[in-house]
Amino acid sequence: MLIEKLTTQDIEELATLAQKTYRQTFSHSMTIKEIDDIILSTKSVDAFKQFLKDGDDFFVAKKARKIIGYIGMQKPNFKMSGRNPTSKDQALKGIYVDKKYHHQGIGRQLMDYAFDQPRFKQAENVYLCVWEENKPAYNFYLNYGFKKVGTYDVIANGKVIGTDQVMMKANS
Ligand SMILES: CC(C)(COP(=O)(O)OP(=O)(O)OC[C@H]1O[C@@H](n2cnc3c(N)ncnc32)[C@H](O)[C@@H]1OP(=O)(O)O)[C@@H](O)C(=O)NCCC(=O)NCCS
Repeated sequence: MLIEKLTTQDIEELATLAQKTYRQTFSHSMTIKEIDDIILSTKSVDAFKQFLKDGDDFFVAKKARKIIGYIGMQKPNFKMSGRNPTSKDQALKGIYVDKKYHHQGIGRQLMDYAFDQPRFKQAENVYLCVWEENKPAYNFYLNYGFKKVGTYDVIANGKVIGTDQVMMKANS
């Protein structure tokens, strides 16, 4: 498996994987309308193009030249209840692995790779948000050393539809 920085040529393939995995993960806890709304704003080709323009970084995991997972990094720009990030902190902007490849250590390898990049390595703390009902991801983060530090409203179509747990891992 190879992990490399996202290029503009790969955005379409990345968006396809992100959308498919998002639907598989959240179809039990959201309506189709809510999922479509979030996909448009966070997992569409235009959304990823905008994130790159905004300075977010993405790394893709490839097997036989096909994208099987990705991890993103962003400035922590969310407001939450609980501990708030500072300018010395960074945040995860999604980690998604193709369902076919779950439980093979790809998620952990993507996380290790991200924490080895200067953006995360030099951060004081790394934050992330995870949907409260997404137990596999929540446990994955806990096992990786993240701790719950707050909560965050999930908004779709202008309405609060649930709560994300905010987690943080301190760099020591
Ligand atoms: C969360 C997610 C990224 C984890 O990816 P993954 O590649 O399955 O993660 P890993 O394989 O590294 O680890 C997952 C589990 O598999 C186990 N595992 C790793 N390699 C294994 C192997 N060879 N055999 C059996 N189990 C293994 C790990 O111990 C780990 O278990 P744990 O979390 O209880 O410690 C993945 O489940 C995913 O993409 N989910 C859908 C999208 C999502 O929810 N993203 C997060 C949104 S906030």
